Amino acid sequence: MNAPAAPFAALLADRLTTRWLGRTFEWHAECHSTNDLATERARGGAPAGLVIAADAQTAGRGRLGRTWHSPAGENLYVSLLLRPGRPPAEIPPLTLLAGGAVAGALRALGLAPRLKWPNDVELPEAGGWRKVAGILTEMASAGGEALHVVVGIGLNINTRAFPPEIAQRATSLARALGRDVDRAAVLAGVLAAFEPLYDAFERRGPAAAVEAFEAHAAFPAPCRVTAPGRPDGRLEGTALGVDPDGALRLRDETGQIHRVISGELSI
Ligand code: BTN
Repeated sequence: MNAPAAPFAALLADRLTTRWLGRTFEWHAECHSTNDLATERARGGAPAGLVIAADAQTAGRGRLGRTWHSPAGENLYVSLLLRPGRPPAEIPPLTLLAGGAVAGALRALGLAPRLKWPNDVELPEAGGWRKVAGILTEMASAGGEALHVVVGIGLNINTRAFPPEIAQRATSLARALGRDVDRAAVLAGVLAAFEPLYDAFERRGPAAAVEAFEAHAAFPAPCRVTAPGRPDGRLEGTALGVDPDGALRLRDETGQIHRVISGELSI
C-alpha cells in the first residue's frame, strides 16, 4: 500500500526557498476562488506575502469575465497577497511581473515558454502555442494608493485532457514534459522567481515589471488586439513592446502608434 501523501502545506514548506513570500500559507481542498479568499484576508488585515492555494475552485475566474477550468488534484490555483504602497496606475504591470516569474520557473524545468501580453503564459505544442498559465491581478485602493493587490495565478500542471471548449488552446506541464509533475515543487519555483522580481518592483517601480515580462515576451508581427476601449473594438498592426506603465505599443498600417491599456493580443 502506498503511504498517504503529505499535506500540501508540508510539501511546500519542504521546498520553499523564499524570505517572505509564502511564509504564511493557506491550502484549501476547495474554494470559490483563491482571489476571493485572498481579498477577504486582505480586508481582515492579513500581511503581504500571504499565499493561498486550493486543490479545486468552484468559481475560478479569468480576465474579461471568463471562467478558469479548476478541477481537483491536478493543477495550481494560487493567489499572492501584496501591499505595494504605490498608486493604482502602477499596479497593472504586476500582471506582467507575475508572467515573468512563471516563465522563469518553467525555464528552470527545461521548458521554453513565451509570454503573450498581458497575462498569458504559453508553451509550444503541435506546431503552435498553447496556454499553460494565466494571471488575474485585482486590487483595492484608497486615497491614491493601492491598499492591497491580489495576484492570482492558474497554472495547468497535470491535466492531460481539457474540456472541448479549450482543448485546442490549453496545455499543461505534464503534456509538455511527458510525465507527472510535483505541484508543490512548481509552486515553490514560482514563488522563488516572483520574490526577487517583486523586490525590484518595490525599489524601481513598474519598469522592473516590464523588464521581467520582456525577458520572455513574444511580439510577432503582424498581430491583432481585441481592445474593448477602441471604437471598433479591435486594432491591427505590429506590436512594438510594452510602455513603462504596462500598456502595449502597437503601430497600425498607417504608421500611427497606439497605446493599448487593456485588451487581448492575437498572434
Ligand atoms: C486568465 O488567463 O484569464 C487569468 C486566469 C487566472 C486564474 C487564477 S486561478 C487562481 C486565481 N483564482 C481565480 O479565480 N483566478 C485566478
